[in-house]
Amino acid sequence: MYLHGTSKINDKNHLEIGGVDTVELGMKYGTPLYVYDVALIRERARGFRDTFKRLNINAQVAYASKAFSTVAMIQLVEEEGLSLDVVSGGELFTAIQAGFPSERIHFHGNNKSYEELDMAIKNKIGCIVVDNFYEISLLEQVCIENDTTVPILLRVTPGIEAHTHDYILTGQEDSKFGFGLENGQADAAVEQVLHSKYLNLLGIHSHIGSQIFETTGFVVAAGKMFAKMKDWKEQFGFIPTVLNLGGGFGIRYTNEDSPLPVQSYVEEIIAEVKKQADELGIGIPEIWIEPGRSLVGDAGTTIYSVGSRKEVPNIRQYLAIDGGMTDNIRPALYQAKYEAVLANRVSDPVEETVSIAGKCCESGDMLIWDLPLPKANSNDMLAVFCTGAYGYSMSNNYNRIPRPAVVFVENGDEQLVVQRESYEDLVRLDIPLKSKVID
Ligand code: LLP
Repeated sequence: MYLHGTSKINDKNHLEIGGVDTVELGMKYGTPLYVYDVALIRERARGFRDTFKRLNINAQVAYASKAFSTVAMIQLVEEEGLSLDVVSGGELFTAIQAGFPSERIHFHGNNKSYEELDMAIKNKIGCIVVDNFYEISLLEQVCIENDTTVPILLRVTPGIEAHTHDYILTGQEDSKFGFGLENGQADAAVEQVLHSKYLNLLGIHSHIGSQIFETTGFVVAAGKMFAKMKDWKEQFGFIPTVLNLGGGFGIRYTNEDSPLPVQSYVEEIIAEVKKQADELGIGIPEIWIEPGRSLVGDAGTTIYSVGSRKEVPNIRQYLAIDGGMTDNIRPALYQAKYEAVLANRVSDPVEETVSIAGKCCESGDMLIWDLPLPKANSNDMLAVFCTGAYGYSMSNNYNRIPRPAVVFVENGDEQLVVQRESYEDLVRLDIPLKSKVID
């Protein structure tokens, strides 16, 4: 059994996180319940930040809030001195509600609306990551209306796709994001914005994928970006002051995953950027990165209650829990794998292999196949590890199941940071048929 962060087994044989008994949390707040190990989030944040500091590199570590965005989470990111990546008006609004310093917010997205850009400009955010030609003119219009200028990065597509151990050079740069680096789009975009009175080009951005276990993809991407920077220096006299290499640093979900410590990714990226900058004869640009999963993924654990059991004789035992694809869609969407234990009987001996089913009306709603467990029954609670990234943020109300609550734990202290949705919440936006309304 692999226990992450501050997780341990207490003297009641219960799973404890941040010094708090998760079984008691489950009883107090109900299940399913997302529990976040705040100390582990802080440790990961410092791992990224301190590596840049130690190597004396100007940097911004921007938390990719799409992984898990709530007011309390954004406030924690602020406490740790990170920057913030948002990708929608909703994520930006959450950051503003959290009181996050707007100059440290970066705005991404391949189809930002006029209203979203206007909101970003009015809030004077630090940087807009411009994705396409349409956005260049839209953003200029917004700047004209607001009589202001805005710092931007251009997102480029370096023709690399990286997933776990594989990275693929996709020659044709077939992606919905960014300006193609090889097909001339990036050059045209650089030239266009350098002539803009409103857009202040800080540098370029690339993001090559997610759940990446090796540094090769980042190194190759940096190399390709520097090759272009050489051309732009010669053609336009443009030298970027910022190079953003995106996120994607992998985490350990199961023992099939072997991520590098966060420091290693940062060290390798810095080494490559230094080498390339030297060769180009320019100063080292500010390096920005955007970790999402690697900051919050293994800090999150979901506590469920065990319910029904179905035996398919000689084939399989299905054990159903009180959540599923509504609070964690990743197994159904990506065949993602997770490890789990019984939260109230953590070190009891393994007695059987079960498959954990969600409660949604869909056969594909399976959380874990073939999980070794003690013989579980309906008084037990199941703790599924590593659900901190893209769990709550991708949760949904399929079957009109209310979204779970979220609790932060740290040093024996607990705090509810998102309430459980109620049935009233589910119908709050519904409007009855006109004919049924009696005034
Ligand atoms: N920066 C950009 C521009 C991104 O598109 C992403 C993720 C990140 C940073 C953060 O990547 P991370 O460090 O979290 O890997 N829903 C999927 C993951 C989608 C990632 C989308 N972009 C999942 O559950 O695995």
